[in-house]
Amino acid sequence: MHPHDPTQRQPTDISVVCASARLQPYRFIHKALRALLLQTLQTAGILDVEDLIQRQRLVTEVDRTLTLCEGHIAHENGFLHEPLRARSLRATRAFDNDHWDHLASIESLRLLLQRVRDAQPHDNAPGLAYELYLRLSQFIGESLAHMAEEESALTRILWSHFSDAELRGFIHALESTFSDEEKAFYLAWMARGLSAPELVQVLQAPGEATPPEVFARQMATLKQALPASRWSELVARLDGLSAQDQAPAHPPPNPARHRPTAS
Ligand SMILES: [Fe+2]
Repeated sequence: MHPHDPTQRQPTDISVVCASARLQPYRFIHKALRALLLQTLQTAGILDVEDLIQRQRLVTEVDRTLTLCEGHIAHENGFLHEPLRARSLRATRAFDNDHWDHLASIESLRLLLQRVRDAQPHDNAPGLAYELYLRLSQFIGESLAHMAEEESALTRILWSHFSDAELRGFIHALESTFSDEEKAFYLAWMARGLSAPELVQVLQAPGEATPPEVFARQMATLKQALPASRWSELVARLDGLSAQDQAPAHPPPNPARHRPTAS
């Protein structure tokens, strides 16, 4: 057996979850978070900390990302991990430990961020900014590994205890705590991290129909966040779906469409 032959590999948590049609509760928000984390690292890498305007931008952006990470940990703890703990006391232990470690890292990063913000000419601000960049890299690397575990091993544990309808209920309960501003913020980062088919799924989530004014707000957010080519791709996809919806329920068969191809 060739070790790299994909047909011979044992299924792993990642391969099982990726091949499944079940609800993946972390997938979209984690893709948004990855886009945010990587953008923050990029910002920390390119800004000139000796330019006070750029320094302020750096401090604001890193601070906002750290706040988002704290909020995300609280959301996972409250809306997914707590119900899971009620069914299986030890199921989330390793993930809870990671969350504690991440909160400690965030606290350290905030202290370092304050030193960058307050650095005087004799304080070697570029050295502090580089230290911030490296410590942020470590934090982001750990977060990426942790999120992949949640999206694979922990997702399978959640599936073994809850139906998709129950999981959807947890996500719905979490999202109902967001203000309109927070919803727009997360959607804008989803725009940067998700593919067009995934964005269509976000817009057409099962459950209650989206009121037209909410859909219009979502589309305005997406238009602002997406580059023109990706915005056109999304609109074309949505137009295609609404054309399908307006088609007769049982369209006559199209012989050209069903004809086997020569290849
Ligand atoms: Fe987490």
